Amino acid sequence: MQLHFAPLQGYTTALYRQLHHSMWGGVAWYYTPFVRIEKGDFRRRDLSDIAPDKNTGTPVVPQMLPRDAKELQQLTELFLSNGYKRADINMGCPFPPVALHGRGSGLLPHKEMVAELMQATEKYPEMEFSVKMRLGWQDNNEWSELIDILNATPLTHITLHPRTGRQQYKGLVDMKAFEEFCQRCNHKIIYNGELNTVADIERFTTQYPAIKSVMMGRGLLARPYLSTLLTGEHSVSNSDIIERTHTFHNALYNALQATSQGESQLLQRAHALWEYFLPQAPRKERKAVVKSTSTRQYESATEKLFASWQADCDNIELM
Ligand SMILES: Cc1cc2nc3c(=O)[nH]c(=O)nc-3n(C[C@H](O)[C@H](O)[C@H](O)COP(=O)(O)O)c2cc1C
Repeated sequence: MQLHFAPLQGYTTALYRQLHHSMWGGVAWYYTPFVRIEKGDFRRRDLSDIAPDKNTGTPVVPQMLPRDAKELQQLTELFLSNGYKRADINMGCPFPPVALHGRGSGLLPHKEMVAELMQATEKYPEMEFSVKMRLGWQDNNEWSELIDILNATPLTHITLHPRTGRQQYKGLVDMKAFEEFCQRCNHKIIYNGELNTVADIERFTTQYPAIKSVMMGRGLLARPYLSTLLTGEHSVSNSDIIERTHTFHNALYNALQATSQGESQLLQRAHALWEYFLPQAPRKERKAVVKSTSTRQYESATEKLFASWQADCDNIELM
C-alpha cells in the first residue's frame, strides 16, 4: 500500500513536508497546497513554497489550480522551470470563492473547460500530470460526463475524494459513487477521504484490495507518525512514538520561531499547528496549549503535555 500526503493549504508547507519526511518517512509523495494565478501573476508565497532549495530531498508534486488552458500553461512552465517533472491538477477545491469562479470543483460541471485543460496538458510531454477531483460540484454524478475525457488523457493517476464540492468536508463520503467511478476509470486511482486511523486504512484495503494507494490529509496532521507505522515500523513502542512526536513538534516550533516576526505571530502560528495536531493527547494538557497567551506559557504547556502523555503511554491507543 502506497501512502500519499494530501495538500492542505496553510498546514503542509515546505517546512512541514521536509520535517515530516525526514522524521517519519513512509510517504511516497507529498502534494503542495495549490499554486494559483492571482491578478495575472503568481503569488509570492506559492513561489517560495515550491522553490527547489526548500524541497530538496523530499518527494514533492506541486499542485496547480488552473481555470483555463492559459493558466495551465503558465503554471506548468513555472513548475518545469523549478525542475519538477510531475504536476497535479486541482479539480476538487470546494471553497466557494474558488469554485464559483470556475476553479477547483467549480470546473466539474463544465465539460468543455475540463476538455480544454486536458488538451493543454498534451503540449507538455516532459511533464507527468495527475488530477485530484471530487464527484462533482453540485451533483455526485457530474464525473460521469467527464470520464471519457479523463480516460483519453495520459495521466499518471486520479485521486478521488468522493464528495461533491457543495458538501465541503462534511457529510458522508459516497462509497457507492466511488465504486462506480472505479469501474469506469482506466487510470490508476488513489482514494482520499476520512482515512484517519490504522483501522480505517485496514478496513479500506480489505474492502478495496485493487486500490493500491491512498491519500491521507487531516488524519496525518493529527497522527503524523501513522506513515511510519503503516508502511514499516509496526512494532515501534508507544513510548518511542510519543518521544519522536515531541521531537517533531519541537523541530516545527523552532523553525517557526526562526521565521516569525515577533511573539504574537509565533504564538498564532504555533496555535494553528494544533488545529488538527494530536486530538488524542491528554485533554486538559492540550487545552492549556491551545489557550496559552504567551510563548512562555505555550512552551511550558507543550512540555507538560508530552510529559503527561509519556507517563500514561502504556494505557493509550495511538493508532
Ligand atoms: C485546511 C484544508 C486545506 C486544504 N487544501 C487543499 C489544497 O490546497 N489542495 C487540494 O487539492 N486539497 C486541499 N484540501 C483537501 C485535502 O487535500 C483532502 O482532499 C481532504 O482534506 C480530504 O481528505 P482527508 O479526509 O484525509 O483530510 C484541503 C483541506 C483542508 C481541510
